[in-house]
Amino acid sequence: MFENLAAAPADPILGLADVYNADERINKINLCVGIYKDENMVTPILACVKKAESFLLENEHSKAYLPIEGLAKFNLATQKLILGEDSPLINDLRVKTAQTPGGTGALRVMADFLVRRTKVRRIWVSNPTWPNHQSVFQTAGLEVREYRYYNAQTHDLDFDALIEDLNQISAGEAVLFHGCCHNPTGIDPTPEQWQIIADLAKQKGWLPVFDLAYQGFGQGLEEDVFGIRLFAQSQPELLIASSYSKNFGLYNERVGALTLIAENADIADRAFSQVKTIIRANYSNPPSHGANIVAHILTNPEMKEEWIDELTTMRQRIHRMRQLFVKTLQDKGANQDFSFIAKQNGMFSFSGLTEQQVMALRNEYGIYIVKSGRLNVAGMTLDNMSLLCESIVKVLS
Ligand code: LMR
Repeated sequence: MFENLAAAPADPILGLADVYNADERINKINLCVGIYKDENMVTPILACVKKAESFLLENEHSKAYLPIEGLAKFNLATQKLILGEDSPLINDLRVKTAQTPGGTGALRVMADFLVRRTKVRRIWVSNPTWPNHQSVFQTAGLEVREYRYYNAQTHDLDFDALIEDLNQISAGEAVLFHGCCHNPTGIDPTPEQWQIIADLAKQKGWLPVFDLAYQGFGQGLEEDVFGIRLFAQSQPELLIASSYSKNFGLYNERVGALTLIAENADIADRAFSQVKTIIRANYSNPPSHGANIVAHILTNPEMKEEWIDELTTMRQRIHRMRQLFVKTLQDKGANQDFSFIAKQNGMFSFSGLTEQQVMALRNEYGIYIVKSGRLNVAGMTLDNMSLLCESIVKVLS
């Protein structure tokens, strides 16, 4: 049965981590997978998470199954974090959330729901986008098409091309946006541009869907959901796949959510019952630990404050490294202007390095970045910055 199978290509992001781990050079630098690291190159467990875990250890008395849609208080806290504490949509019962195994799990439930329970057969994603979007959607049976997003010359959003492409999309098709911190480019629409896109969505009738994996890593928890909230105000229907991997550092606990907004409470109920059948036929119900941590923190005002402080520390460190990266490249004599990197949002910097330069960095200097030229800024430290920038300058010349 299996003997005719050819080996699958390595994953463009997670596969690189295996190659990095096998590299024996002591000065190697890992800027591939999007995970936060502190100045000591450690991916820390947040102090508020540790506290929540101690609380759970003492107070958890059962390992019985969660409901298909997961923990109710986690789901409500997720809605409030994304849509706002006093969102009228939540009060009007137009919003339903299912806790999922990570943001990727949410994307897959979303895609299965669209293919199996609605008429949507095609989804549009930005070019470029996180490579796993294509895989998740195609595996679920959606046809994936791309809209233009990035202008490689200006290193900025190609807004005219974006609007031109979005204008061609028909009602009944889905369009994926990154809620904030676009992965891989780090370039998000401005508030004015979000408004234009939201108006277009309404006029055209396509279904907007969001991937929100980095809330709090761009400008702030509220600022980073500006676009989503704008859509939520004007759209009858919306789907949001969100993740707590990055903003709570809960990568391996797989904590995410799929949030569905419908035109009224009755439609929301019916649609969500269908989402639940999709989940039941997949993983049945979600794991509890990570969601319990998030729910405990988000529903306890003191702990929430502590989490916001820790999140701010992570965001500010990335901002500092981004600025230092631009400055050090310049100091080391880069023959190109990299100031555009300072304007990008979130964990990644889209460097504009070619595939050949990326390979030279890996082979000659043990510096690992994704083939598209995406660097994880959170992997930069005061200690490795000099070597990193010197090496980049060498491969540029
Ligand atoms: C990334 O883009 O590096 C992260 O989202 C990790 C992943 O699963 O690819």
